[in-house]
Amino acid sequence: MTKSNTTISASITAIGGYVPEDRLTNKDLELIVETNDDWIQSRTGIKERRILKDPKKATSFLAIQASKNLILKNNIDPLTIDMVIVATTTPDMQIAATAAYVATQIGSNNAFGYDLQAACSGFLYAMSMAAGKVESGRYKKVLVIGADKMSSVIDYKDRSTCILFGDGAGAVLFEPNNEGLGWQDEYFKSDGAGRDALCVKAGGSLFPASSTTILNGDHYLRQDGGKVFKSAVSAMSEASNTILERNNMTGDEVDYLLAHQANERIIEAISKIMKLNSNKVLKNIAKYGNTTAATIPLLLYDFQNQFKKGDKIIFAAFGGGYTWGAAYYKWNKLVK
Ligand code: COA
Repeated sequence: MTKSNTTISASITAIGGYVPEDRLTNKDLELIVETNDDWIQSRTGIKERRILKDPKKATSFLAIQASKNLILKNNIDPLTIDMVIVATTTPDMQIAATAAYVATQIGSNNAFGYDLQAACSGFLYAMSMAAGKVESGRYKKVLVIGADKMSSVIDYKDRSTCILFGDGAGAVLFEPNNEGLGWQDEYFKSDGAGRDALCVKAGGSLFPASSTTILNGDHYLRQDGGKVFKSAVSAMSEASNTILERNNMTGDEVDYLLAHQANERIIEAISKIMKLNSNKVLKNIAKYGNTTAATIPLLLYDFQNQFKKGDKIIFAAFGGGYTWGAAYYKWNKLVK
C-alpha cells in the first residue's frame, strides 16, 4: 500500500491554528452546573476549553484566524490556493458555505470552497478529499480547515455535554510531493444506526426551527455518553488496526497516533488496543476539550516541531452519524 515515488503524493506543507483567548475552566463550570474539577479531570482529562464569547463571531472567524496564521507564517500568496475545504459541524449558516466566505476573506479569490460535515470525523475526511485532489494532478494547493464554534450548540445547563466541548480551528495546506511522502492509506466507515446517540436534532429539514424545537432545546447537542464512548473506542481501534495490518505495520513501528480528542480515556483505550507506548500518543485535550473538527489540526499545530521527515503517523477519528476512520501518513518536512 505504500506510495511509489513515481506517482504524485499529497503532503502537508504548512500548518496554522487558532483558539480564542477566553478560557472556560472546570472551576468556572462548577458555578454553572452540578459538577466538580476532580470528576471532569478523572472522567475526561479536560482542564479547560476555549470559548469564542463574541456573539457576532462565528465559525468562519476561527477558520479565518487559523488560515491567516498559516498564510502569514509561511509567506504564502493566498491567490495561489486552488481550493478551500472547511470541515465543520457548526457552519455560520445553513445554506451559504462557510468555506466560500473564508476563502474570500483570506484573499483566496482564485479558489473555490465548500464545507464538509462529518462531525468529529470531518477533518480526517477533508484531508482525504484534499489528498485525492492533489494526487489527481488537477490541483496544486488545497487548504483544509477544521473549525467549530461548539459553544453555539452547547446547552450550558446539561452537565453531560457542556464539560466536554470547546471552540477552535486548525488549518493545513496540502501540496504535491514526489518522494512518496504524505497521505498513504485510509480506512473510513459510517453507520447511520448511531445517529440518535449523538446529534443536534433540530434546525435541519427533519425538524426545522419552530417555537416547539426551541422550547424543547432541540437545537443543542445531545448524546448518550456511555454508548458513544464504547462505539468510539471499538470503531477507532478497529479502523487503526486495519490500517496497521494493511500496511504490514505493528504498533512499534508507529511514531505517533493523532486521535480525535473526545475523552482522554477513549484515547488511552485505543492506544492500549493498538499496543502503543504512551509517548507516541499525542494529547492536548486538557487545554482545549473536544473542539470537534478542530481537534486533529490543533494536534498538528501544537506538536508540529517534534515530527521528523518520514515519521509514520496514524490519524483516527470518530463522530456523529456515526462516522469514523483512520489514515496512515508519512511526515514530510514543512516549508518553514
Ligand atoms: N459532573 C459530575 N457528575 C456527572 C457529570 C458531571 N459533569 N456527568 C455525569 N455525572 C454523573 C452521572 O449522573 C452518573 O451519576 P450516577 O452514577 O449517580 O447515576 C455518574 O456521573 C456516571 O455517569 P456516566 O454518564 O456513566 O459517566 P461516564 O464515565 O460515562 O462519563 C462522559 C460521561 C460523557 C464523560 C463519557 O460518557 C464520554 O466522554 N462519552 C463520550 C462522549 C463523546 O466523546 N462525545 C463526542 C464523541 S465525538
